[in-house]
Amino acid sequence: MTTLLEVSGVSVSFDGFRAINNLSVQFAEAELRAIIGPNGAGKTTFMDVVTGKTKPDEGRVIWGEKNISLLGMSESEIAMEGIGRKFQKPTVFEDQTVRQNLAMALKNPRGPFAVLWHKRTKANGARIEAIAEQIGLTAQLTRIAGELSHGQKQWLEIGMLLAQEPRLLLVDEPAAGMSVEEREKTTNILREAAKTRAVVVVEHDMEFVRRLGCKVTVLHEGSVLAEGSLDHVTRNQKVIDVYLGRGHA
Ligand SMILES: Nc1ncnc2c1ncn2[C@@H]1O[C@H](COP(=O)(O)OP(=O)(O)OP(=O)(O)O)[C@@H](O)[C@H]1O
Ligand SMILES: [Mg+2]
Repeated sequence: MTTLLEVSGVSVSFDGFRAINNLSVQFAEAELRAIIGPNGAGKTTFMDVVTGKTKPDEGRVIWGEKNISLLGMSESEIAMEGIGRKFQKPTVFEDQTVRQNLAMALKNPRGPFAVLWHKRTKANGARIEAIAEQIGLTAQLTRIAGELSHGQKQWLEIGMLLAQEPRLLLVDEPAAGMSVEEREKTTNILREAAKTRAVVVVEHDMEFVRRLGCKVTVLHEGSVLAEGSLDHVTRNQKVIDVYLGRGHA
């Protein structure tokens, strides 16, 4: 198992309050991982640290086979390294079609490969269709994004992130506001996406996490409380006490 991202001994304080407390956690390439834990456990802050939005007070964040430190890098440099993030609220271009949204998101050529731009442009149509298929929006390609349902907008945004070909995709509470049917489709999209990249999903909905069928990390007070299969962590008495016993069973 090759480690793609290694977070080690990371702490983040806000006005003296330790939101992340000596956190160590690792993710493998092409791994699907769920992160659960009570409100305020530090799940979103963890994503803020990985994406460079928040700088930790101490610890290391090491990326890729070259063991690059992400800590000295800006948010855009980290995105260029192949780390994509989906926020809770969809941020698609509402007055553009689904196809136009995906076209805008396709990775632009950089540096010495810019000469391949012409070929890439031709290939874009096929890639847009492949992504639309992946996110179940083939029939919606010509529709204006603003007319899509909440779930469809979320899938479009996932598609726009996939268009950037991230090696790691961070997704914060994708199931919020979705119907049961939309949630099922979302788990399928994320499971499929995780076959070719690492996907880390923060989610409170236990049914959703069960359907992801992956390793689970439980965060509590900024540290890992338990880790393993969902059955393993849900049997852990500490997890029951701080989380599952409080309405998240
Ligand atoms: N920018 C900030 N300034 C001050 N405190 C913050 C900031 N960001 C987060 N916190 C605090 O850090 C703690 C962890 O917050 P975080 O948003 O990471 O939790 P979470 O696990 O994502 O919770 P939820 O499940 O509610 O989304 C909370 O106590 C929160 O109030
Ligand atoms: Mg959060």
